[in-house]
Amino acid sequence: MSVTISIGSGKGGTGKTMVIVNLALMLAKMGKKVCLVDLDLGGADAHILLGLFEPKRTLTDFLTRKVGSTTDIIHTFYSFNGLQFIPGTGHTLQTANITYQEKQRLLRSLAAVETDVMLIDVGAGTNYHALDFFMFSDLQICVTLPDPTSIMDMYTFLQLATIRKMLGSFLSQSDIGTALKSHSFNTLNEVFELAEKTREGAKEKAQESLRYFHPLLIVNRDSAGGRVNKFKLRKMVAKYLGIDIPELGDIPEDGKIDEALKAFLPVCELYPNTPAALALTAIAEKLEKVISLFSPVPHKGV
Ligand SMILES: Nc1ncnc2c1ncn2[C@@H]1O[C@H](COP(=O)(O)OP(=O)(O)OP(=O)(O)O)[C@@H](O)[C@H]1O
Ligand SMILES: [Mg+2]
Repeated sequence: MSVTISIGSGKGGTGKTMVIVNLALMLAKMGKKVCLVDLDLGGADAHILLGLFEPKRTLTDFLTRKVGSTTDIIHTFYSFNGLQFIPGTGHTLQTANITYQEKQRLLRSLAAVETDVMLIDVGAGTNYHALDFFMFSDLQICVTLPDPTSIMDMYTFLQLATIRKMLGSFLSQSDIGTALKSHSFNTLNEVFELAEKTREGAKEKAQESLRYFHPLLIVNRDSAGGRVNKFKLRKMVAKYLGIDIPELGDIPEDGKIDEALKAFLPVCELYPNTPAALALTAIAEKLEKVISLFSPVPHKGV
């Protein structure tokens, strides 16, 4: 059984790639078969953090049909406990604007990869690709910095992801496109109203779709001065988005992260006892427990 976990944020540069690369490594060290996927279309850089400068094959080869399956582009890091890695694509016109069909082909192929845990870096932003890749997974992690703009961007990201998930529960893909063009959907109630108008039972389906949606929260670059009132944040998200965001952990500001980046190694490998690495290790241990409790829900897909 494989569990898919994606990482996202509204704002760029919150530390998503750093976090997911280190979590992938730590889960591999714990004995899990892990596959890390760089789905940051146009901004792929996870390979650099792993010291792989020129991946032989990347997602571009899959998207341009040079290879038929994402399994054909897996790179195995034998020095990192057999961690498997699907490198992302550079910013090419062919891949920046992939179609819905291409996206489906990609997600179908990823779902067929045999692994215990698949970790997906979806990149920053609230474009449809980022939202769809985020929602494709069984579990989601969102990373924010402690500052108010980053928190607001994360809130907007979660709001859009929630709305898209709800719409997907009662509308077809083409109807979602039409609905999004004609409505701005500022609140969940507007989605419920549309559901009621669409067909009987659609509102219940929309509500039900959020039952398994509990994105896990990581606050990165935490410092004494920048403390987030997580209780208030969770209350606001629960009130306005109807979802709970359990805390996965905090990662302190730590200069060793940039030093590790310059050495092209994950910080947990190079400086395992530095505060950020210890926090990442604790998060990986918590995540492993969540994974072991988890049984995927049947409605996987976009
Ligand atoms: N806890 C931390 N302490 C110090 N520096 C950090 C910390 N977390 C991340 N950084 C630094 O912040 C920068 C951005 O990190 P990263 O590339 O992982 O962010 P990202 O969210 O993936 O960005 P993007 O949205 O562009 O993909 C990097 O230089 C990284 O080394
Ligand atoms: Mg990144």
